[in-house]
Amino acid sequence: MKIIVIGTGYVGLITGLGFSSLNHQVTCVDINEKVVEKLNKGIPTFFEKGLEDLLKKELSSGRFKANTNLKEDIQEVDLIFIAVGTPSLNNGKIDLSFIKTVSETIGKEIKNIDRFISIIVKSTVLPKTTDTLVREIIEDFSEKELGEFGLGMNPEFLREGSALEDFMNPDRIIIGFEDIKTKKSLANLYESWDCEKIFVNTRTAELIKYTNNGFLALLISATNEIAKISSSIGNIDIKEVMHGVHLDKRWNPKVNNKRVYPKIIDYLEAGCGFGGSCFPKDVKALIKYGEENGNDMKIFRNIIEINNDQPKTIIRDLSKVTSFEDKNILILGLAFKPGTDDVRESPAIAVVKELLKKDIKIFLHDPIAIINFKKEIGANSKIKFINNWLDQVSKSAIIIILTKWEEYEKLNYSNLSGKIIYDARRVLSKEKLYCRKYMSIGLQN
Ligand SMILES: NC(=O)c1ccc[n+]([C@@H]2O[C@H](COP(=O)([O-])OP(=O)(O)OC[C@H]3O[C@@H](n4cnc5c(N)ncnc54)[C@H](O)[C@@H]3O)[C@@H](O)[C@H]2O)c1
Repeated sequence: MKIIVIGTGYVGLITGLGFSSLNHQVTCVDINEKVVEKLNKGIPTFFEKGLEDLLKKELSSGRFKANTNLKEDIQEVDLIFIAVGTPSLNNGKIDLSFIKTVSETIGKEIKNIDRFISIIVKSTVLPKTTDTLVREIIEDFSEKELGEFGLGMNPEFLREGSALEDFMNPDRIIIGFEDIKTKKSLANLYESWDCEKIFVNTRTAELIKYTNNGFLALLISATNEIAKISSSIGNIDIKEVMHGVHLDKRWNPKVNNKRVYPKIIDYLEAGCGFGGSCFPKDVKALIKYGEENGNDMKIFRNIIEINNDQPKTIIRDLSKVTSFEDKNILILGLAFKPGTDDVRESPAIAVVKELLKKDIKIFLHDPIAIINFKKEIGANSKIKFINNWLDQVSKSAIIIILTKWEEYEKLNYSNLSGKIIYDARRVLSKEKLYCRKYMSIGLQN
């Protein structure tokens, strides 16, 4: 098939390369000329395991290219995927401006084309966006009606850090469609994928994606709420509590008498909260949307409230046992999770902003996210980014771990005497550490 993917971020680029690797002809389109230039030279604009090799391979196969417009390929294309960002507005509502612009562009481009083209929304959008907003804009600008072009919604579930693997081996594929030709095209496209395929209308597909993210975020915040009880009582470690929960066979069944340890258990761990470009904005968008449709979104409002408080918990806990004045603080981990250089909504941003109110020097490390974090937080004389964090350990009074990068386990073997360690991701073995104080979320600190 001939495919255009609009937007070359985490979802668009991975989607484009994934299809190209399965012998489809793909053009990834982005308005950012620098991004397009880099991609055509084989340089990815974000980090993802295996991405650079795959990009180079697909470019040299002749099946993949990037471009700044649709014009060159629109005459022969079968499917256009929309994978632009859908960020939050200041009030938490979804910002659909990129979706609107792209729908307008597509409408104009298909106006004078006889070919039947299906337009598929892959971005995360709220129910009715595809069958109402996108449809109406495309119809207006193309002067065609649905049926003369096709419409679908195919949400993406990849996780940054394992994006290629997730895209190529999904748990299920949701195929939302508004016309039979699009249903058939998508069924065809995904034929070789060995997983369940669910065929639904586009608004159902849209709500599946939000429900999925909302429930995962709910598990994290519910665990963090229990962690608050645990730390307020004392002599309880939330890690032990959750281990007891993890062994329930409904979370963690046994197969051949061996525990499966499903990934869902990762969401049942206390920590400094979720971040990234999806959970926070998607839960906020769902709340606003639910309220606009006459529903009181009590549970989902509290997911966000609890999550926003997690980074502050760290500062509150530390303030109880130490002053910050004139101290060196070492922050380990800036990305919102390991395996990615994405810092969008990372808890590290909130922690650093809070610390900057104090008279201290902050040393910051991350194996790959320093450049993005610098852009996010801006210049400040109290901050220094470092590459060799082990050298900084002996010079720091307080060490805070915010991302579960494996390399931070080396602290287990470091001399930490006199130091306060705040292990917000439970990277270290608290029993083995010899330090002034070991602290974490869900311990009495
Ligand atoms: N990042 C994830 O892990 C993930 C996972 C599943 C779903 N999603 C959803 O997928 C969508 C995309 O997310 P992302 O993280 O890939 O976004 P991103 O911000 O990384 O990338 C979006 C890209 O779209 C480009 N763009 C914006 N307007 C454009 C236009 N008019 N024409 C062409 N290109 C344009 C931008 O330049 C940017 O490169 C969002 O709705 C997100 O919620 C993201």
